[in-house]
Amino acid sequence: MKIVVTGGLGYIGSHVVVELQNEGFEVVIIDDLSNSSESVLDGIFSITGKRPLFEKIDLRERSRVKSFFKTHNDLKGVIHFAASKAVGESVAKPLHYYENNLHTLNYLLQEMEKMEAAKFIFSSSCTVYGQADELPITEVAPIKPAESPYGNTKQIGEEIIADTCRVSTNFHAIALRYFNPIGAHESVLIGELPIGIPQNLVPFITQTGIGLRDQLSVFGNDYPTEDGTCVRDYIHVLDLAKAHVAALKRLLQGNNTESFEVFNIGTGKGSSVLEVIKAFEEVSEMKLNYAIAERREGDVVAAYADTEKANRVLGWKAELSLKDALKSAWKWEKKVRS
Ligand code: NAD
Ligand code: WQD
Repeated sequence: MKIVVTGGLGYIGSHVVVELQNEGFEVVIIDDLSNSSESVLDGIFSITGKRPLFEKIDLRERSRVKSFFKTHNDLKGVIHFAASKAVGESVAKPLHYYENNLHTLNYLLQEMEKMEAAKFIFSSSCTVYGQADELPITEVAPIKPAESPYGNTKQIGEEIIADTCRVSTNFHAIALRYFNPIGAHESVLIGELPIGIPQNLVPFITQTGIGLRDQLSVFGNDYPTEDGTCVRDYIHVLDLAKAHVAALKRLLQGNNTESFEVFNIGTGKGSSVLEVIKAFEEVSEMKLNYAIAERREGDVVAAYADTEKANRVLGWKAELSLKDALKSAWKWEKKVRS
């Protein structure tokens, strides 16, 4: 079964490609290399022994998207990761985000609408919930006004998909709302490679640990949480990858009960910034240089998933711990800098 993975050379996409290949799927990757490198293909090949087909396409080029679907007229599904994902950058460059995250989605869906049976998985985000009124967050929690153009693209993206499902009987989709993905493949042949100064906590921690950054700033310790720092649901990228395969199989086997379904993908456990630092210090056996700093604008106090729906309906559950994930992130950082 041939599956297209857009953004398949990126952080999450590459881990999903490995999982798909391990499950016997034939994978075609589309990526424009705007935030990844072709060498990721070597990492995938070293892990699975199979080199996925790769087409360097910028999905904003509509004619190329069209001809891709004409050539690959035997594909069974699309997992769509390709997008720009830096929250701060999206505030500075909103039009780029609306184009890269939404025009591309529109072009893909226009081609998929023509397929006899189209199955689509969309990378959504817990960011759609903003600061939820109740924790843990269920899928029926209200969608809050987006804090950034990036967050808005995920909300609008879900709406575009829902509207398409309403009118196209052959089109079935699942949106996975990821919480905070971290970690790397245990082989450390693939992992997260942020360009420039990392915006996310775990890459900043590992880069500080390795000496690339002097000090980690903990953004605020006066939040209404147990230790005053923000709480998030950190999920190992390997668990996240498995959730995609479970969702894809549900669509391919026709087990979905609605044409558009949404699932939270997290561990269900919240960890504070200080807890993450402590866990990192334990797995790395080193002291991390950090200091308390001002709050970061736009941060929610706490977000962690209610995963009951994903557990029950997808038959999927996160199995790896925060320490497992941090261990792999640290091993990856050491390998990348060696
Ligand atoms: P990433 O940047 O590592 O991967 C995205 C890939 O898409 C990159 O390889 C990039 O080169 C490619 N790409 C971007 N624009 C493209 C275009 N126009 N045409 C073709 N390829 C293009 O990001 P990631 O962390 O792997 O995230 C994957 C998806 O998951 C994104 O949609 C992101 O918004 C979503 N997501 C990520 C997180 C997270 O914390 N990493 C959390 C929630 C949701
Ligand atoms: C986690 C915690 C920070 C860096 C982001 C996106 C979200 C989703 C996942 C895509 C927060 C604190 C961080 C640092 C710190 N992505 N922190 N010092 O903000 O939960 O979510 O990634 O969809 O949309 O917003 O993740 O890793 O940036 O922050 O203290 O140097 O770590 O304040 O509490 P976040 P993060």
